[in-house]
Amino acid sequence: MSRYRYPVIPSSAITPEKVYQQRRTLLKLMGFAGLSSLLGDALAADTADTLTPYEHVTGYNNFYELGQAKTDPAANAHRLKTAPWSVAIEGEVAKPGTYTLEDILKPHAIEERVYRLRCVEAWSMVIPWNGLPLKDLLARFGPTSKARYVVFESIFDPDNLPGQKDNRSGLQWPYVEGLRIDEAMHPLTLLAVGLYGKTLPNQNGAPLRLVVPWKYGFKSIKSIVRIRLQEQQPVTTWNLSAPHEYGFYANVNPAVDHPRWSQQSERRLPSSLFNPNRISTQLFNGYAEQVASLYRGMDLRVNF
Ligand code: MTE
Repeated sequence: MSRYRYPVIPSSAITPEKVYQQRRTLLKLMGFAGLSSLLGDALAADTADTLTPYEHVTGYNNFYELGQAKTDPAANAHRLKTAPWSVAIEGEVAKPGTYTLEDILKPHAIEERVYRLRCVEAWSMVIPWNGLPLKDLLARFGPTSKARYVVFESIFDPDNLPGQKDNRSGLQWPYVEGLRIDEAMHPLTLLAVGLYGKTLPNQNGAPLRLVVPWKYGFKSIKSIVRIRLQEQQPVTTWNLSAPHEYGFYANVNPAVDHPRWSQQSERRLPSSLFNPNRISTQLFNGYAEQVASLYRGMDLRVNF
């Protein structure tokens, strides 16, 4: 574990993916993976699934501000201006304000978490993220007793972001997402600043994005500029655009189909016509042991 310095990792320290995978395998063989159990829920949730190659993680993306085709975000990545960057922390907190990215990150150790990412479109990846638990950041700003939800907002910059200028998607900008406070404070909920040990590529939501591994990918909002704590459940982008298709909770659930397709299985990337690599989808994306208690007593068909 290392402390954050800006930029996160000097190019001299970049590890090629092969070496990185070998190093992980070695650590596992040496028994370091077993340490996880001592370190609690979060690390224990690190998946043993094969990592999705870097070029797929960074070349097949959903980032509608940068275009709707899967290859658009990488092609238009240079249009996203990530420096200078600041994040407004607002609402039900003791210490609201606008903070530079450096101030936001300075006190936090950056950890690695290997999580499955399951898109609502029924494809999935396994990504080694670098980031900090959202709960540690929120705690610094002192949520009040009225803070029942956390709302996140992405960058709004139509002059530079083609998808906001032409708006073919019909989405309302900026992109907004939200979590219940207990979901936001869960140890698995991560704010990512990197992947594969490298600074987060723009197409993956640089410089700061959310990762909520037990929910469909659209909850994992990219390029965050505002975090607001509030009493009311917020209106969120995909839920607003098609409320019967995309719920507020969006927990991965093979038993609750999307109105236009099944959610029982997923294509694990890389996937092709001749090698579809289709696997069964797991409840809460395989993190039920850690998160099912958050939803005890709730009807997951109603609160989809
Ligand atoms: N955040 C913003 N601001 N805009 C988006 O279009 N797409 C979401 C999510 N976060 C999106 C976003 C969707 S649908 C998914 S599946 C994930 O980002 C994809 O993340 P990835 O491209 O890093 O795999």
